[in-house]
Amino acid sequence: MKKHFKDTEEYIKHISSLDEKLFTYFQSIIKTDSNLTRQMVSFQANKKLSAYRWYKYKEAFSPSLVKHFLSEYHIPEGIILDPFAGSGTTLFASSEAGYDAEGIELLPVGQQIIKNRITACNLNNNDVDRIKFWRDSLPWKKFKPAEKINSIRITSGAYSEHTETSVSRFLSAIKKEKKNVSAILFFSLLCILESISYTRKDGQFLRWDYRSGRRKGQNTFDKGKIYTFDEAFTSKLDEIINDLSGKNIQLDLFSDPDPQNIAYRNIKLYSDSCLNILPKLQHKKYQAVITSPPYCNRYDYTRTYALEHALLRIQEQELSDLRQKMLSCTVENREKDLLNFNRDWTPAVRSCENNELLQSVITYLEHKKAAGAINNNGIPRMVRGYFYEMACVIQDCFRLLKNGGVIFMVNDNVRYAGSSISADLILSKIAEDAGFHIENVLVLPNGKGNSSQQMGDHGREILRKCVYIWRKPY
Ligand SMILES: C[S@@+](CC[C@H](N)C(=O)[O-])C[C@H]1O[C@@H](n2cnc3c(N)ncnc32)[C@H](O)[C@@H]1O
Repeated sequence: MKKHFKDTEEYIKHISSLDEKLFTYFQSIIKTDSNLTRQMVSFQANKKLSAYRWYKYKEAFSPSLVKHFLSEYHIPEGIILDPFAGSGTTLFASSEAGYDAEGIELLPVGQQIIKNRITACNLNNNDVDRIKFWRDSLPWKKFKPAEKINSIRITSGAYSEHTETSVSRFLSAIKKEKKNVSAILFFSLLCILESISYTRKDGQFLRWDYRSGRRKGQNTFDKGKIYTFDEAFTSKLDEIINDLSGKNIQLDLFSDPDPQNIAYRNIKLYSDSCLNILPKLQHKKYQAVITSPPYCNRYDYTRTYALEHALLRIQEQELSDLRQKMLSCTVENREKDLLNFNRDWTPAVRSCENNELLQSVITYLEHKKAAGAINNNGIPRMVRGYFYEMACVIQDCFRLLKNGGVIFMVNDNVRYAGSSISADLILSKIAEDAGFHIENVLVLPNGKGNSSQQMGDHGREILRKCVYIWRKPY
């Protein structure tokens, strides 16, 4: 099915015509939905929400999005699944709405957020009083800085000497605490690492402030205020204490007005790759899947969350192994041998091989690579891996859903080497091949461009940001 052309223009023309053909095929179900705001599909709205605001997981969506779909689509009682759970928004929002929830998350940072939110909600009054004591008396100040904060190559020098010493005192001090209290104190540190460091999370990597001394003379980036450990930590504890005692809560529109009801007993977390877990889960167990996979945008979660992973004592090699286990979304991801791993995924792989649009995009990217005209040689492999792996996830979700069950998936289209890649159309075709009825592709009101470099080179084409709604037939 590989078609070769003599120049870029012809490749792009071919891709555009296949894109248009698939767009026309799905046209009747692609709709702009003005109920879906950018706030709802991003972390934005969570900044003021009790508990959701503790750790700013920038790739999160909002609990109102989850609750909106659960109620709009009349999802019956039962279990909701999120194979890319991140900070657990689907799990907590579903639980608040009265469902059971199961999530799969590969990265330790996400696992920690989920586990600690559950721990925090099960603290008793004495435990909360103890956390108040830490906020009010700063007991770490009396401890020796015996317990060093772990660092790896890409995080070395991330904190000032003064901050390193304070954190070190703190790490020594929490050793004496009761297990669940010490877990929440440690989690509070995880929540403030960026704000006390010289770094800022920036998609593909960590950006370093000029005050770090890295690249002396050339680095002018100023991240703004860098907080001391004492200020950032006591203010995080204050936030957590307030949320736990039900004060100062700006409740999510759809949630239960009684904060006492937030007890997350019905959440289960699998800490591994969904490619390992999904095949082991029980047939027809779930009412809905509400998820947002990584986008095919080179965003490297392992580097962005390096400070947090270093604190969690993840070493260099382990971090790079995690990068390889992630859904392929960085140029460093090597090909996963999907069929050797699981023969049952043959239909998913076949669906990708038969997807004309996907194949034409891959052939074009390989052509650009061969011509030395792509800004990273890993891009064709990443794009291929992304869609083939997603096809396996989609096939498994079909098997796991009850009849009539629905997938809600948030995702962005992307652009490489001047060609738009309509992830919404490609994945919907793959889902249809897997047996789903493609009910809707809901487009967010405003499109957005890709990286600034692409925008400069190729002008602003609108890239759709969508929620896909696919239903398993009754
Ligand atoms: C867009 S984020 C999800 C955010 C989530 N909806 C929330 O509100 O916090 C995608 C998540 O998928 C996780 N991930 C990537 N590859 C994975 C894999 N193979 N198995 C499980 N999780 C994976 C990433 O670590 C990341 O947390």
